[in-house]
Amino acid sequence: MGAAEETHDEAGTGAPARVRLRFAPSDLDVKVPGGVTVFDAASWNGIAIDSTCGGHGTCKKCRVRITAGEVPVSKLDSRAFTPDELRDGWRLACRITAQADLDVDVPPLVTRPKAATVGVGRQVILRPSVVKRHLQLEEPTLSDQRTDVQRVMDAMDDLEVRAGIDVLRTLGKVLRDAKWDVTAVVADDELIAVEAGDTTARRFAIAFDLGTTTVVANLLDLDTGTPVAVRSMLNKQQPFGADVISRISATMMDPDALGKLRELAHETLAELTDEVVAAGDVAPEEVYEVVLAGNATMTQIALGIDPEPLGVAPFVMTSDGYDGLRATDLGVRVHPNAPATVFPSLGAYVGGDITAGILASGLDRDRRLRLFIDVGTNCEIAVGNQDRIVSTAAPAGPAFEAASIQCGMRAAPGAIEIVTITDTDVELGVIDDAEPVGMCGSGLVDAVAELVRVGLLDASGKLITDEEAADRPEALRRRLVTVDDQRAFVLHWAGEPGDTDQAVYLSQRDVRELQFAKAAIATGWALLLEELEIDPSEVQQVLLAGSFGSYLSAASAIRIGLVPKLPIPRIISAGNVAGEGAKMAVLSRQERHAGRALIDEIEYVELSDRTDFNDRFVEQLAFPP
Ligand code: FES
Repeated sequence: MGAAEETHDEAGTGAPARVRLRFAPSDLDVKVPGGVTVFDAASWNGIAIDSTCGGHGTCKKCRVRITAGEVPVSKLDSRAFTPDELRDGWRLACRITAQADLDVDVPPLVTRPKAATVGVGRQVILRPSVVKRHLQLEEPTLSDQRTDVQRVMDAMDDLEVRAGIDVLRTLGKVLRDAKWDVTAVVADDELIAVEAGDTTARRFAIAFDLGTTTVVANLLDLDTGTPVAVRSMLNKQQPFGADVISRISATMMDPDALGKLRELAHETLAELTDEVVAAGDVAPEEVYEVVLAGNATMTQIALGIDPEPLGVAPFVMTSDGYDGLRATDLGVRVHPNAPATVFPSLGAYVGGDITAGILASGLDRDRRLRLFIDVGTNCEIAVGNQDRIVSTAAPAGPAFEAASIQCGMRAAPGAIEIVTITDTDVELGVIDDAEPVGMCGSGLVDAVAELVRVGLLDASGKLITDEEAADRPEALRRRLVTVDDQRAFVLHWAGEPGDTDQAVYLSQRDVRELQFAKAAIATGWALLLEELEIDPSEVQQVLLAGSFGSYLSAASAIRIGLVPKLPIPRIISAGNVAGEGAKMAVLSRQERHAGRALIDEIEYVELSDRTDFNDRFVEQLAFPP
């Protein structure tokens, strides 16, 4: 038996915290949480093991041979294998819980499972929880009086399912009208529908990313794993404030606000659903499942749960996960019995969107030490690898959303998103090549980084004086102005040069806002790295996530000290990882379980507890030399 890691789980199951599994012939060596099944561990790491029941322990197809390490013989193993095979190490992968290091030989596949690339380059084996079976049932006779539901169950003897009252109410009629030629729809272990004829070719699900600002819906074909349609829209809760704190405050001040906010979340999700099914030419009843990733506040509000405790110390969630939900609980009009899965949250400020993002990035399965930063009003940070992950939340404030920036705006046409200061002047990249009317978050970071680089902004964040700028090119000097008694740098003269009323500029106050935001984030990752006793230079990859982080220039992020000083190729844009995590959970039941397991695996570090937080924050305000 191999040497599994000594630390044991807190649940007292006796399983080591991590075990090493070596898969042959793929020669993949992975560390996974002790107690997971070999079937799930293989699936998470892109190794396909034969199965038609998806790990339920009913198909007996997931045959593997253990070549090193000991595994007891399960009841099902003794039915699936001969005594010789058992002695030779053959076992059913879905029945082996990894309690120690193991070498696992995976035989060639009999059926080739489909896979899809999702998340940050992750290969996911398609094993959705929604399964369809075409059944041609025997009609009942006086000598075969099995119940209708038993007849359906018996025809799917490789699945263990239960049927709820909603299906039973109509089952008799559907079976008889269809002349016993039907399709059973199973989600996880529940029979959610029985449909006339063969409908196996059509099964869909929707993955939602419920953001405070933007909500995205992805309609996926569960048969192929491909996205059929994707739509996004602003969260209809916007009138209640731009960030989670203002939404929580609204519910504290007005007893009706929670109901209204919940309704608005439901309207947003329902409208997006209508749009994606129309665009994909899919009937709403063909959508059998929804998965939602959102921060803790958005999730609680969408479920009608009072978010007030999230907004006041000690910041406690009502629950970190929610079982037994239906799509209807989120106001989504799809198949009436479609289940809904909501990503669990790690903490009040490290929500289900981050759990989904970490799942999508595979942070917990990589040997490399990686730093994950979801940049936003509330910035979530996680750092680690397959051995250990620590995370925290840093209140960055609204600078990145450009809400508190004088000439700030959303990333929309006319927003300056790239700023380059040349030897003689300023060059701008503007969304849609439109006339600049403001700057979005990435433009703000770029502008500050460039001003630091060329020395128009000093390390303390102060725009230099006219005297100090005397030796600078005329075009740059003219851009250093005073607006409303404060120093500013003009990025674009919309009217006449010199007319600051119509100019797009960066003010001294804007620079301070950005300094506070980046100091909060940098303090967050610096303290997490200290927790792991790791030097920032050892970070092998930085993933900038979220709608804002993904558009940041790596060079500018380094220049202002938002991320550790590393070679630029180590800093990558991870895109909308929350949405990708939700897609993964739709496409693979194993991935969904892995997402749930993250809650126990990731250690949350509360920064506001630390006595040195303020000193460290102040140190991080300056721009790196
Ligand atoms: Fe079906 Fe193991 S996956 S029995």
